[in-house]
Amino acid sequence: EVTSTFTQGLPKAELHVHIEGTLEPDLKLKLAQRNHVDIGQTTIEDVQKTYQYDDLASFLAVYYPAMNVLQTEQDFYDLAFAYLQRAAANHVRHVEIFFDPQAHTSRGIAFATVINGLYRATVDARALNIDARLIMCFLRDFSKESARQTLAEALPYKEKFIGIGLDSDEHNNPPLKFARQYEDAAAAGLHLTAHCDIDQKDSIEHIRQALEMMDVERLDHGTNIVEDPDLVDFAVRHQIGLTSCPLSNSFVSPEMKGQEVLALLEKGVKVSINSDDPAYFGGYIGDNYYALADQFALTKAQVVQLARNSFETSWISEDQKRLYL
Ligand code: HPA
Ligand code: ZN
Repeated sequence: EVTSTFTQGLPKAELHVHIEGTLEPDLKLKLAQRNHVDIGQTTIEDVQKTYQYDDLASFLAVYYPAMNVLQTEQDFYDLAFAYLQRAAANHVRHVEIFFDPQAHTSRGIAFATVINGLYRATVDARALNIDARLIMCFLRDFSKESARQTLAEALPYKEKFIGIGLDSDEHNNPPLKFARQYEDAAAAGLHLTAHCDIDQKDSIEHIRQALEMMDVERLDHGTNIVEDPDLVDFAVRHQIGLTSCPLSNSFVSPEMKGQEVLALLEKGVKVSINSDDPAYFGGYIGDNYYALADQFALTKAQVVQLARNSFETSWISEDQKRLYL
């Protein structure tokens, strides 16, 4: 039987966590005070009461405004280091952390402020026995021109992040909108992933574009792929990683997509379990493994396979992978 002690203690990699989604109510209040930002609430309970959403759009409407409390390089450091301490307690050995520069540059925070604060936390995470890397995401509901500008601003810092991703509101914002930025990022030696959120309009078409036309190495969420056997074959043949997030799913849909995860495991797709936005969706990575294992009666062997998949589809070197596998 799989216990929460087992899921917490299992060595794992986390491949789908948004640093802005790790902003806990207590840190939000502390930063609001420190930076004299009025967020409309003054107690943890009142902040918690604003955490109401039932789909991607209503979640994002709570999520983005909260970021106003992040102002200085130290704020970004504190945010990331707090997450990394929790990740260490969850026996995360390697993490690839998403950040959304446009959510900050669009309100006047310099790109350098964001990346330097986050990067410094990843360096200090070595003392926690975690290898931490950064993935820069484009906001897909912003223009291509904004993405182009963001990539141009980011490339001078390319030693500080390992790949690019695509997040925010997927509705009418297909991966191909950013084909040019993905090409340019790949040419600069960066890894590629993209969100294909669950149960979106055009989910399958978006997955097809990302896999067949843009050469992404992973799909974030992406579990709607089970509806299309040819794409499932493609994912198996190309060892595409799918980063599923059970607790996040249960907020934006009636279910955590356990049947889909089990079906994909069975077919040999490299699906992993992740926390997405743990401060908003009620749990860190160990809780996500446990919720899924508990509700869908996973065996220990299945849970171990999910953790193996997380290392296998991570972007660490093959030499480093051998240490974990
Ligand atoms: N999907 C899209 N945008 C996001 C997500 C997500 O799961 N989490 C944070 N931003
Ligand atoms: Zn996400």
